[in-house]
Amino acid sequence: MSGLPAGGRRPAVRRRVNPDILRLAVLASGRGSNLAAILEACGRPGFPVRVVVVVSDRERAPALERARQAGAEAVFHDPKAYGDRAAYDAALVATLDRHRPGLVCLAGFMRVLTPTFVRAWAGRLMNIHPSLLPAFPGLHAQRQALEYGVRIAGVTVHFVDEGVDTGPIIVQASVPVLPDDSEDSLSARILGEEHRLYPEAIRLFAEGRLVITGRRVLVKERA
Ligand code: GAR
Repeated sequence: MSGLPAGGRRPAVRRRVNPDILRLAVLASGRGSNLAAILEACGRPGFPVRVVVVVSDRERAPALERARQAGAEAVFHDPKAYGDRAAYDAALVATLDRHRPGLVCLAGFMRVLTPTFVRAWAGRLMNIHPSLLPAFPGLHAQRQALEYGVRIAGVTVHFVDEGVDTGPIIVQASVPVLPDDSEDSLSARILGEEHRLYPEAIRLFAEGRLVITGRRVLVKERA
């Protein structure tokens, strides 16, 4: 006996969807250690978030492999396959729309997104940057901090606006810069804080506790 009903077709099984779980999309270009920290947090009891899709602009990004291993869909969008940034971002929007995320997180996604993309996801688009913004935006933030000679460096999670690393700040954490620091040692110290802070910011969003008022983000007390 096959156990199938007459007619041989298995009845469609509806996946139960928990409306309290935030559907998260992550865009990542590289090694994906922040993605790994987010995936790990999603596995903790009571963490109200599920990664539904990871998109990368690099075919061999380890982030894509991490996504597959965690059972999330991994999508490569090849920049060379599109005529311009607008066409590329339109493809990104189409992929994201298919997965209906409530939040999109940039985790080492090394492309500047078009204003059209940013406007489409305004208030639902986060980025992590390895400096205490507004200091040292753009590339090589840790090197910029060392070269400037600051004593305190750190990390910022912020909502994305149309500028580069300029959106409203959600959370920040600082780390000391030690006299014998290299770019690698400082980056590693900052990265440790990144892995703690990004899941924390995502959880605050998932719990509906972030309110953007102008440039400021208020964090509401837990209800
Ligand atoms: C992280 O340090 C992140 O803050 C940085 O790229 C790295 C990605 O690492 N992002 C930026 O500099 C954005 N301007 P990961 O791939 O291991 O998460």
